[in-house]
Amino acid sequence: MDLQCFLCCRVALLLLLMPSGLFCMSVHILNEGPVYIMPDDPLRLEARIEQGPLEKISTVTWEREPESGVGPGKEILASCPGTGLNGSVCAGTRPNVHGNMKNEKTNLQISRYSSTDSGVYAVTVTDHKGVKTTAHCIVRTYEPVHHVTVSINVSHSSLVCGEAWGTDPHFSWLHERMAITQTVGTISKDGTTLIVTMKPFCGHFTCIVSNKLSFSSGSFTAAPCETEGRGMTAAVVCLVILLLIVIGVLAFVLWRRHRHGHRGERLHEHLDDTI
Ligand SMILES: *[C@@H]1O[C@H](CO)[C@@H](O)[C@H](O)[C@H]1NC(C)=O
Ligand SMILES: *[C@@H]1O[C@H](CO)[C@@H](O)[C@H](O)[C@H]1NC(C)=O
Repeated sequence: MDLQCFLCCRVALLLLLMPSGLFCMSVHILNEGPVYIMPDDPLRLEARIEQGPLEKISTVTWEREPESGVGPGKEILASCPGTGLNGSVCAGTRPNVHGNMKNEKTNLQISRYSSTDSGVYAVTVTDHKGVKTTAHCIVRTYEPVHHVTVSINVSHSSLVCGEAWGTDPHFSWLHERMAITQTVGTISKDGTTLIVTMKPFCGHFTCIVSNKLSFSSGSFTAAPCETEGRGMTAAVVCLVILLLIVIGVLAFVLWRRHRHGHRGERLHEHLDDTI
């Protein structure tokens, strides 16, 4: 009896669940958002539509609206008729917008992206009964690197590199124009922080931030590294003194030779005169 009831319940549950599985259409945008596009590059979005056997796609529309919600509202970019397997071309509303629809896949293309094309893109599928299903994808302009700053966290003896709004920034560090070694410190995983372990904390630190479009750098200068600096100056001074001595000796030798030569000549002339 119990078993029977259990089976009954399961069948009832299955019957309840089946229609929603059969009649529910879904749509997914395959690009992982947010999508970053450089100006003048093409933008391509692709969506897959899943439909039950009893459903028919009536129309597919691609729309865009600003991400911030200000400015003009929704703009229709392309609308496509529901089709068979052979595919169909969607009607774009602008000359640089193209779309098509084939085998439960639909895509939208903007041939030359400009920053005004950024926003939330939506693809809406309407079935034969007028039921709508929508998927969204955020599209943003790929921005160059902006305003790199380096600040010091005194309590943790670390340097923190900041960047304003560039897309996908990559951080790297230099100390006295050389790559960071373990004697200087360690760099955090995301690259933004340099934990300085060298003692004393000295010299010139540079943080370089780059992405596909540009790079920029910021720096932090601690007290000059004393020992190295003094050693270098002493070496340079010694070298200069040595050079001066050598030049002096050479000049003296040349001068003496020159004088002796003249004296000899004069002596000859004198002798010739008296003879
Ligand atoms: C679809 O394409 C195939 C081959 O390309 C063709 O034989 C068929 O007639 C087409 N069907 C429709 C509905 O256009
Ligand atoms: C210094 O770094 C530590 C650890 O990352 C952090 O908790 C602290 O807030 C930082 N201090 C300042 C002044 O930024």
